[in-house]
Amino acid sequence: MNTIFFDNNSTTKIDSDVFESMMPYFKNFYGNASSNHVLGRESKTALENSRNLIAQSINAYPEQIFFTSGGTESNNHIFQVLAHKKNPRILISSVEHPSITNTANNYASNSSCELIEIPVNKNGEIILDLLSLKLSKFCDLLCLMFVNNETGVIQPILKKQDFEKNIGWFHCDAVQAFGKVPIDFKNMPFDSISISSHKIHGPKGIGALVVKDPSKLPGFILGGMQENSLRAGTESIPNIVGFAAAAQKIDSMLEFQKNHVSKLRNYVEKRLIELGAIILGKNANRVYNTCCFGFKNISGDSLLAELDNFGICLSSGSACSNLESSENYVLKKMGIKEIDPKSVIRLSLSINNSIEECKYFLNKCEDVVTNFRQLITI
Ligand SMILES: Cc1ncc(COP(=O)(O)O)c(C=O)c1O
Repeated sequence: MNTIFFDNNSTTKIDSDVFESMMPYFKNFYGNASSNHVLGRESKTALENSRNLIAQSINAYPEQIFFTSGGTESNNHIFQVLAHKKNPRILISSVEHPSITNTANNYASNSSCELIEIPVNKNGEIILDLLSLKLSKFCDLLCLMFVNNETGVIQPILKKQDFEKNIGWFHCDAVQAFGKVPIDFKNMPFDSISISSHKIHGPKGIGALVVKDPSKLPGFILGGMQENSLRAGTESIPNIVGFAAAAQKIDSMLEFQKNHVSKLRNYVEKRLIELGAIILGKNANRVYNTCCFGFKNISGDSLLAELDNFGICLSSGSACSNLESSENYVLKKMGIKEIDPKSVIRLSLSINNSIEECKYFLNKCEDVVTNFRQLITI
């Protein structure tokens, strides 16, 4: 069966040039980048070249890039900035990815800290007035995501002047923004950001924590001297080379998102609305590829399972510790009552998708929804 992959916010297919660029580092140049011999030096050169390329793709300095295993690890590490703080005050948005929410909750339950959630409005946007109210008192760590993984909403957090005072450290989870929105790290208000390779058609298991002033961050994995002693462990050179190759394609990917992916998403949304779907964050500034939707009285899991039978891959709510896995936590936090959190489905496109795939999906979706509605009225 042919498959149609509409789950690109969860991961993306590796680009074939990216894949090819990695091969020599499995087969021929397999030295440890810390070794002082010819193969070690080959790996070290590849490591530093890759760091340069990734830095260029987000307008950062190479020495600000620390390779990690991905977004989750980078988001976990950032809580190290609180290592020496007494009774810290932490602010996070209510729609952060579980790699921030669960880490923050875990930290708060093991230490005497004040953890405050900044709510979002019905469009899924952080309520800036409430944020600035909370920022009238000093906060040690502020974590706000750039683009929401479920709705694709771009958070209004780029104005430097909004974040100039009363913040010890401002971390931004930019995992879903990378490759969908230009990132200009030097001119953004963040002290650190997380990025991940597998969201931009690179390999899985590699990402970075990008830190404006690394001298302010204690080591987060201790051992050898790798990554300037902040994140010890032998570097995965094939993955890092692949990550850099994918990052080099970001500009053309951004163009493609704007010109091709946006048309597909708008086409799909128009037809879904005609079918009676409710689109989350429809009136907000969103990335071009994401459509988070649901039909009244139709379970998202059942719809997913039916579409899966036709080889169409989408996703329902993200796993979140205090909700059932198929409930969409973002919908709950947005305060939307028109549809059930269990009805929500996320469709996320990539540069690999076509209009034919969208039409096929829409036809199958219409059939399935019509059948469900008939069953409800029987
Ligand atoms: C917003 C956001 N942050 C963090 C992550 C975790 O990234 P990784 O899969 O690289 O650990 C994801 C993955 O879906 C995400 O969407």
